[in-house]
Amino acid sequence: MAHIQVLPSAVADQIAAGEVVERPASVVKELVENSLDAGATSVEIAIEEGGHRLIRVSDDGTGMDRDDASLALVRHGTSKIRTAADLVGVESFGFRGEALPAIASISRFELETSESDGAGVALETSGGTVTTTRDAARRKGTTVTVGQLFYNVPARKKFLRSARSEWRAITEAVNNIALTRPDVRFSLSHDGKNVLSLPPVSDLRARIAGIWGGRYAGALLEVDDVSGTTHVSGLIERPADVGTTTRRIFVSVNGRSVRDNGIIRAAEAAYRSTISAGLRPSLFLDVQLPADSVDVNVHPAKAEVRFRDRWPVERAVEAATRRALGTFDSSATMGGGQFANRYFPPSEFPPSSGESVAILSPTIPDVEPLFEETGAAPRERVEAEPQYQEIPPLFQFRRTYIAFEHDDGLVLIDQHSAHERVLYEQFMKVLESGKAPAQRLLLPITLHLGPAEGDALEENREYLERLGFEIEGFGGNTLIVNSVPMPHPRFDAERCLRETLDALTGNRVAGTATRHEHLAATVACKAAIKAGEDLSLAEMRSLFASLRDTQLPAHDVHGRSTIVQLRWDEIDRRFGRK
Ligand SMILES: Nc1ncnc2c1ncn2[C@@H]1O[C@H](COP(=O)(O)OP(=O)(O)OP(=O)(O)O)[C@@H](O)[C@H]1O
Ligand SMILES: [Mg+2]
Repeated sequence: MAHIQVLPSAVADQIAAGEVVERPASVVKELVENSLDAGATSVEIAIEEGGHRLIRVSDDGTGMDRDDASLALVRHGTSKIRTAADLVGVESFGFRGEALPAIASISRFELETSESDGAGVALETSGGTVTTTRDAARRKGTTVTVGQLFYNVPARKKFLRSARSEWRAITEAVNNIALTRPDVRFSLSHDGKNVLSLPPVSDLRARIAGIWGGRYAGALLEVDDVSGTTHVSGLIERPADVGTTTRRIFVSVNGRSVRDNGIIRAAEAAYRSTISAGLRPSLFLDVQLPADSVDVNVHPAKAEVRFRDRWPVERAVEAATRRALGTFDSSATMGGGQFANRYFPPSEFPPSSGESVAILSPTIPDVEPLFEETGAAPRERVEAEPQYQEIPPLFQFRRTYIAFEHDDGLVLIDQHSAHERVLYEQFMKVLESGKAPAQRLLLPITLHLGPAEGDALEENREYLERLGFEIEGFGGNTLIVNSVPMPHPRFDAERCLRETLDALTGNRVAGTATRHEHLAATVACKAAIKAGEDLSLAEMRSLFASLRDTQLPAHDVHGRSTIVQLRWDEIDRRFGRK
């Protein structure tokens, strides 16, 4: 006897619905995506009781004629692809012809649609069966109403959460779609109250401003970078702001909002050393790549994509994020907004000179004399040299901060943090390739170590030597230091070595730091000039120039800022001038 039967289509639809419709938010997502696929410029979403009772999506898209309206409710009925080949590089959100029949099969459903103002059609279904078809006078576009979701699938209904939490998921779904299409108008209401109203705008920043406010949007940092065939763009949180507000994550691939932990991790990796371990930044990133290198048909709710080659995509995301964090503009800012600057390169990694320079040496090669900034001569002279040579007049405050004036505001640099960043990057270079210039001492230093410090020394000896500490004597607890690095003239080598060994006995700073990073950060911190030290103008200029040449000038190595921008706008506002 045959045991196998083909399931009736109503049952098949319900099963498919289980994959497509997890909760009310999935219905909202599918319906809004259909509206966008239909070329809508305006989408209205009305929700009642967190979607338990009602979900209604209206658009001003192309609409459908009577025949198409019926076909839309048939499984695999789609206008978006014709052959399997069309799946490659499909640009519409939908492509399977599953969503409407799936949703209709588990709700009381109404589709009202019109291809031109006036004449239209309305179809009502219950559990997927058409109960009424009638003419409906309406403007061009489509309205889908989904009532009593899961009314005929009690097992699923039980899994619905409270109206509140379903509502939260719906707002998140709407935000995500709205972020992919700033050019479309969206409105969202709950139980008759208008909650979100987003006018069409020109870019992502303006859309974020529409959702979370201008101040929040204004403080985000721009990412825009191409690596190979991958274009990464978007907005990310300034390191100084990370942890101060709710974390928000948005990733889209070729305009589709997706979940992708790999991309998020890659972007977070770029934040290494600019924020404290454990903090996680807000990210709004869009990745564009050739359509045939991503497969969008891998997840039942289309919430994930598969890359043909994931590694270069993640690399591109990390590089783009890193590049944005390497700009002067990424520094902490009071007042938000972009900071026009003449003194720091815009968004490129600074050209690395390759040689190691004594950081605070009183003579400053390659730096123009102060107050000779006008005239075309210096500009013409530099062809291969970095373009940003100009150094503004600098002032020291509280023997701690270096300040300068700028087109858009006042800038403060923390001398210790800044020097730490400079030394860190130099030490990293040295640890990875070669040996730092060392200074042989006339009178060697003798150090007596405790057992823990002795262990720390043995563990790091090779690297400390690369940094320029030439250390003799082992076993026992006395050691002799013959040579030391010379990061600056006032460098106290003995104290630095002691404090470094002491710090190395403790726990590692950041959970993700490599051994090199940990050591370089520790020595840099101990070797850098401290707050409270008077700096000569030449020293400040030298520090400024060296900081500008680092990869991440605006961030120290412990998650603090080296630079704070106080915008004139903000200062004016506080004085009541604006
Ligand atoms: N708001 C709308 N405006 C105009 N046509 C629509 C709208 N919603 C659905 N359609 C039409 O109905 C068809 C079926 O929609 P449905 O969402 O079920 O499938 P799909 O979007 O093609 O694929 P997927 O299942 O991947 O979403 C669509 O292909 C489209 O032609
Ligand atoms: Mg669809």
